[in-house]
Amino acid sequence: MNRDSFIYVAGHRGLVGSSIVRKLEEQGFRNLITRTHTELDLTCQAATDLFFKEYRPEYVFLAAAKVGGIVANNTYKAQFIYENLAIACNVIHSAHTHGTKKLLNLGSSCIYPRLASQPIKEDCLLTDSLEPTNEPYAVAKIAAIKLCRYYNEQYGCNFISGMPTNLYGPNDNFDLETSHVLPALLRKFHMSKLVQDGNTEQLEKDIRRFGPVDPEFLQHLKEKQEVILWGTGAPYREFLYNDDLADACLFLMQNHSAQDIGEFINIGTGMDTTIKELAELVKETVGAEAAIHWDAGKPDGTPRKLLDIGKITSLGWQPKTDLRTGLLKYYEWYKKESGC
Ligand SMILES: NC(=O)c1ccc[n+]([C@@H]2O[C@H](COP(=O)([O-])OP(=O)(O)OC[C@H]3O[C@@H](n4cnc5c(N)ncnc54)[C@H](OP(=O)(O)O)[C@@H]3O)[C@@H](O)[C@H]2O)c1
Repeated sequence: MNRDSFIYVAGHRGLVGSSIVRKLEEQGFRNLITRTHTELDLTCQAATDLFFKEYRPEYVFLAAAKVGGIVANNTYKAQFIYENLAIACNVIHSAHTHGTKKLLNLGSSCIYPRLASQPIKEDCLLTDSLEPTNEPYAVAKIAAIKLCRYYNEQYGCNFISGMPTNLYGPNDNFDLETSHVLPALLRKFHMSKLVQDGNTEQLEKDIRRFGPVDPEFLQHLKEKQEVILWGTGAPYREFLYNDDLADACLFLMQNHSAQDIGEFINIGTGMDTTIKELAELVKETVGAEAAIHWDAGKPDGTPRKLLDIGKITSLGWQPKTDLRTGLLKYYEWYKKESGC
C-alpha cells in the first residue's frame, strides 16, 4: 500500500471506520474512497458490484456492519444475521471479482464460544456453543472469516481478518437502546451530573445529539439519585481504544499477508476488568456522584471474554492507550460533541 493507492474504507463514519480514515489521512494516504450507507447499501449485491467495477479499490478495509449491544443483538436477530452476511458476501466477492489486492475484514470477539478458556486463542474458534444473545451476529462474522479464507485458498486472494475485542472511542454509538456497555455507562453517568446540576438545557442538547433516554431511567435518577445499570456487573470485559485498533489495522494491512496471519488474528489489550470496576472508573472519569443500582434482571452476556494477543504482539504490534487515558480522551470527545 503506498500513498497513491486507491483505498476503500467501508463504514467510514462508524467507530472503527472513522478512526481508520483519520489514521490513513494522518499518514498521507491521498486516494481514500468512502460511501455512506445511504449512498451505497452494501447489502445490495448489484450496487456493491457496480461500485467495485467503477472504482476498483486496490485495498479495502471492511468496517461496515450492523453492530449493537446485547439488547439490539437479541431483538433484531434476523437483521443482524442477514445484513452482516450480505455485507460480507457482497464486499468480499466484489473485491475478488474486481482485483482488490488486499482486504482486511473486521470481525469481533463474539465469534468465540460462550465458555471459551481464557485468554482466548485464535484456535478456539468453533470448539463449543456460542453465546445465545449474539449468536446471529457471531455466525455472520464467522462466515466472513471463512469467506476470506476460502477465497484465498481457491482464488489466491490476500484477504485477512482481524478480531477486535470491545472497542470505544470517538464516534461511538451512545443511543442507549442499541449501544455497547461502555458508551452506555459514560452517557448515563454524564446525565446523572446534568440532572444533579439541574442543567435541563444541556440535558435536552444531549438527547438531541445522542438519542432518547428511557423516562424511567431519568425518573429514578431524579428521585433516588441512582444510576440504573444493566446486569450484575460481574462479567469481565476487555476494552481497546479505537485509535489503537486503527493502528493495528494499518499495521496488518501494510506488513502482513494472509500467509503469515493464518485464518485470522486477535486484536486487543490482553487485559480485562469487571463491569463493576469499569463503572467505578467511568464514574470517576466523569466526576459523577450518583449511586449505582444494578438491575440484575437484565442479561449479563458471556461471563468473560479476554483475548490472547500473543499472535499479534509476536508480529510486533502493541496497544498504546491504557483504559484510564482512553476514557479521559473519550469523555473529552463526548463533551465536545454534545456541546457541553
Ligand atoms: N464497536 C465495537 O465494540 C466492536 C468490537 C469488535 C468488533 N467490531 C467490528 O468493527 C466493525 C465496525 O464496527 P463499528 O463499531 O465501527 O460500527 P458502527 O459504529 O455501527 O459503524 C458501522 C458502519 O457501517 C456502515 N453500514 C452499516 N450497514 C451498512 C450497509 N448496509 N451498507 C453500507 N454501510 C453500512 C454504517 O454506515 P453509516 O454511517 O452511513 O450509517 C457505519 O459507518 C464491525 O465489523 C464490528 O463487528 C466492533
